[in-house]
Amino acid sequence: MDSDRLISETPVILGIETSCDETAAAVVQGWRKILGNVVVSQEIHAEWGGVVPELASREHLKLTLPSIRQAMSTAGVAWKDLDGIAVTRGPGLIGALLVGLSVAKALSLGTGLPLIGVNHLEGHLFSLLLEDPEWSPPYLVLIASGGHTEIHMVEDLGVYRRLGSTVDDAAGEAFDKIGVLLGLDYPAGSHLDSLAESAESGALRFPVAQVDGPGHNFSFSGLKTAVMTHWRGIPEDERASQRGSVAQGFQRAAVQALVEGMEAALDETGAPRFGVTGGVASNRELRRQLTELARRRGVDVAFPSPRLCTDNAAMIAAAGAFHLTNGQRDGLDMDADSSLRLPSQSFTASIEDTPGGKA
Ligand code: KG4
Ligand code: ZN
Repeated sequence: MDSDRLISETPVILGIETSCDETAAAVVQGWRKILGNVVVSQEIHAEWGGVVPELASREHLKLTLPSIRQAMSTAGVAWKDLDGIAVTRGPGLIGALLVGLSVAKALSLGTGLPLIGVNHLEGHLFSLLLEDPEWSPPYLVLIASGGHTEIHMVEDLGVYRRLGSTVDDAAGEAFDKIGVLLGLDYPAGSHLDSLAESAESGALRFPVAQVDGPGHNFSFSGLKTAVMTHWRGIPEDERASQRGSVAQGFQRAAVQALVEGMEAALDETGAPRFGVTGGVASNRELRRQLTELARRRGVDVAFPSPRLCTDNAAMIAAAGAFHLTNGQRDGLDMDADSSLRLPSQSFTASIEDTPGGKA
């Protein structure tokens, strides 16, 4: 295949995502239309109470090629139907990233298809476009997952303003640690959510951190310590009866921090809509409060479905389609970058938001 061939208006992109503990492959047309989307959540980490990087890499080695085959088969595409291969180059676990990157490079070399390295965080910003054909910039995004807690303003596709991020733990990480402390299975966020929902509404309050300095930043480590100290002060024979109220108190403070951050970001930007992505976006209390915030402000809010909220390759392919259309081609010397950030930046966009159409 000729690597200089004309890229179509609606490029068909194979996306590969292996930055943490999801092995994912997808085929997307433009940045609106999903043709095939496979996500395998690695279950091997549950017994260790957290993601074990070496195990994640080994699982990616086993699962990446079968996931690609399945995504292409669901999409009904062959190599000749593709216009490019997009792959997450960071941030994430270095060994895990390198598996996806090596596979993508080998496939690019073997097929002649252009290679496009994608920032995982930018992928999350594109996930909003994949489900709602009317969704378009400008919009705010809260990314709240096990690895990230950030707010970005999407002024336009490729034009981002970073408004804040966590200065220590990610929101999901705090849910996991407190959940495990309360005896819940890892990953504990959804279990903690259920425990808090089923508990009688209590009055237990924990501090919500205010982070000094510019930006709407978050901190969850003080909250975590406050909850741990409280929990350890409860006599062992009373803990079972207090688990629900502690879960609820923790969740209340964590959610309040996220909602206040979004409120400040709405004030600053005047954005007409915002979206919430990452595993924590499933949290029921967070959804209720952000829905209420949107109603109060008269702005639109979107919670993409779980398959697009958690790590997935469709969002990587969508961001890859945008950059390919804007001329990005990466060489085989492209490196993984485990601590890649998404600072305020502008990629030169020379096209309208049309590829993929209003699917
Ligand atoms: O985006 P994601 O699937 O992937 C990674 O970050 O790897 O996010 C997973 C995170 C975990 O920390 C999990 O405990 C948390 O999202 N999570 C939740 C809920 N569902 C998943 N946290 C709070 N409430 C939930 N309902
Ligand atoms: Zn993610």
